[in-house]
Amino acid sequence: MQIDILTLFPEMFPGVLGSSIIGRAVRNGLVRVETHNIRDYAANKHKKTDDYPFGGGNGLVMMAQPIYDCMRAVLRGQSARRILLSPRGKPLTPALARDLARELRLALLCGHYEGVDERVMDIVDEEICIGDYVLTGGELPAMVLIDCVLRFVPGVLGCGLCAEEESFSDGLLEYPQYTRPADFRGKKVPEILLNGNHAHIKAWRRAQAVKKTEAARPGLVSDITLTKLEKRFMQEMEDGE
Ligand SMILES: C[S@@+](CC[C@H](N)C(=O)[O-])C[C@H]1O[C@@H](n2cnc3c(N)ncnc32)[C@H](O)[C@@H]1O
Repeated sequence: MQIDILTLFPEMFPGVLGSSIIGRAVRNGLVRVETHNIRDYAANKHKKTDDYPFGGGNGLVMMAQPIYDCMRAVLRGQSARRILLSPRGKPLTPALARDLARELRLALLCGHYEGVDERVMDIVDEEICIGDYVLTGGELPAMVLIDCVLRFVPGVLGCGLCAEEESFSDGLLEYPQYTRPADFRGKKVPEILLNGNHAHIKAWRRAQAVKKTEAARPGLVSDITLTKLEKRFMQEMEDGE
């Protein structure tokens, strides 16, 4: 997969793209990520990339010309799914990330200031939002999207099914996880995780996931069906409270 990032701030990316799991995916050639500085394509003398909004209003708007020319130079007539990171875009969900992970090439356009000239919409395929809040620029959203998408690219995560077993993947948040030691300063790991009964562990985890989700995100758990064993664990949790 190839990912091109069109940005005014390419210096923000190397840390994220060079570290941890994403860094390893890049080094292993599973993904090639390139940043392109939109300012290099500004056709005016002072390399200006933004200007005041017509009609008045706060802040500055990124001009269409440098973005058009940057996109054209980067893609050179080749196809890519062209995405503008934007608070008014469709939400980034696991389903969307999985879909994006199947693409051969993504071109991510990062807005800044008050956003981009509306005519830029003619050269993007879609707008994607990473959450209902506003950040100063599209660089962090692009990093979030890349991280989220690459988790679905085969080979990026050590274990094949990890991305499918995380919070949200089955409509629930994740159950509590524990690692060694089994007794940390008197706080003991739940006995059920130590007894090797995998059917019980699976049911306990699902019951825990339902409970966590009900508490943190009640809207996510409207039509969950529980097995008899899961119901039993739910009941035990309620009795223990
Ligand atoms: C300050 S924001 C512009 C906000 C815009 N004036 C509005 O009200 O929707 C600057 C840029 O940050 C990026 N951005 C900010 N919040 C975002 C979010 N939640 N998701 C995706 N991109 C975001 C976009 O690229 C946007 O063009």
